Amino acid sequence: MTKPTIAGNRTGRKLGQRVKNKKMKASSRQWLQRHINDPYVQRAQLEGYRARAAFKLLEIDEKHGILKGARRIIDLGAAPGSWSQIAAKVTGSTDDDVRVAAIDFLEMAQLPGVKILQLDFLDPAAPEQLMEAVGGTPDLVLSDMAAPTTGHHRTDHLRTMHLCEVAAHFAIEVLGEGGHFLAKTFQGGTEKELLNLLKQNFKQVVHVKPASSRAESVEMFLLAKGFKGRKREADETEA
Ligand SMILES: C[S@@+](CC[C@H](N)C(=O)[O-])C[C@H]1O[C@@H](n2cnc3c(N)ncnc32)[C@H](O)[C@@H]1O
Repeated sequence: MTKPTIAGNRTGRKLGQRVKNKKMKASSRQWLQRHINDPYVQRAQLEGYRARAAFKLLEIDEKHGILKGARRIIDLGAAPGSWSQIAAKVTGSTDDDVRVAAIDFLEMAQLPGVKILQLDFLDPAAPEQLMEAVGGTPDLVLSDMAAPTTGHHRTDHLRTMHLCEVAAHFAIEVLGEGGHFLAKTFQGGTEKELLNLLKQNFKQVVHVKPASSRAESVEMFLLAKGFKGRKREADETEA
């Protein structure tokens, strides 16, 4: 007879497990303990997502409806690929008709319908290569990029904020009218200048903290909805 699954945990794996390996460093043991007891990690395994991050995007979408109708999506900082998995599904992207372009400097396993670039997004060649890979005007630019941590809080913060800023400029340059931009940022970290730029270019700009983003993490997401388009900008410059 098969063992019944534990209530509220459909993987059948018990939550509240302790890691007892005394040879491990305390910090590694704590990380592993938190990881194996994380319900989102277990749910990601069950639902076939490569990372728990999938639920951040799905939760944001549930509240703000950014995926519906998206035809082409660019995913910045994509590895291991759970956002790209969702992007390929919503756009109906296939290897014959690719509608999702993903970039990461880490290696990422292939995904059907996703053109993967292993490249630093800050490389000057990245924007052009991404546009070529996505095959047309994107209506959604996603960025879950976080700079590799140095241990120096302020430096890490500034580096990730810089990625967010460059991603925002990229989105404004490539999005189709009505498109959306979602990017990882930090609590209290979004520069006023960046917020103003987004407010000028999008109909709505909000900060979001999905439930699946760990409460103890300063991670937040910046969502800019309804790109006003570049024609308006050109008209204003002419006037
Ligand atoms: C939180 S992970 C992304 C998880 C992903 N959204 C998913 O669902 O699987 C952040 C990623 O950003 C990538 N990254 C950070 N800086 C980058 C850069 N300058 N260019 C490309 N990728 C970058 C990291 O290598 C890392 O894989």
